[in-house]
Amino acid sequence: MSRTFILALGIFLTIASSITGLVIIPNWQFKALQPIVKLDGTRYPEPYFGEQAKGREIYINQGCIYCHTQQVRMKGYGADIRRGWGTRRSVPRDYLMDRPHQLGTMRTGPDLASIGARQPSAEWHALHLYNPQITSPGSVMPRFEYFFREVYDGEVIPNDAVKIPRGRQASNATHIVPTDRGRAVIAYLKRLNQSYPLPEANQ
Ligand code: HEC
Repeated sequence: MSRTFILALGIFLTIASSITGLVIIPNWQFKALQPIVKLDGTRYPEPYFGEQAKGREIYINQGCIYCHTQQVRMKGYGADIRRGWGTRRSVPRDYLMDRPHQLGTMRTGPDLASIGARQPSAEWHALHLYNPQITSPGSVMPRFEYFFREVYDGEVIPNDAVKIPRGRQASNATHIVPTDRGRAVIAYLKRLNQSYPLPEANQ
């Protein structure tokens, strides 16, 4: 056998075994995976609709993934559960509706797989996104103030305005009102919740 043939065969086998192991076998393992019907008759996970779907697009195009993961590791593989990032580990079924998934690899900030369960308050998310220093002094998360309209002293305060706590006002603005984009991101964050106890996540 010529050396060229052995080299070509080696390259072919390397590529073929990678494709088999990384694409074909996982696809075969998970293709039958379906949402689970919960005890209350609803399904988990549900598709993203309306504001949540729009919020997901914004999460992707703003690059939140560069600082946040959405995957809780099992006990014994880090402190994710001890830190309160989830009540159980993440499993493939959690991501059935996520195309593309937002697993992420960087954890400059906390994991957000279950942020909707951990922090359900829309007001908190609004203040935090507008200026992370308000809720989390010392945070290195950038401000996303363009998701909000500022309301100044003396202006009419709309119903959906969120008050900036006294002493935390960086300008004359006293309230913020989420724009469509702000509302969408918050709806998406509130929906992130992997706390339903899936049977396969017990092992
Ligand atoms: C440069 C890195 C960085 C980027 C980009 C970033 N974050 Fe953060 N984020 C952090 C850090 C650090 C924290 C922890 C401190 C804090 O609460 O602000 C955090 C905290 C959070 C929290 C609160 C988590 C908790 O457990 O209390 C949420 C929600 C959040 N980020 C959402 C987002 C969203 C949505 C985006 C994109 C629009 C984003 N982050 C972009 C760094 C980042």
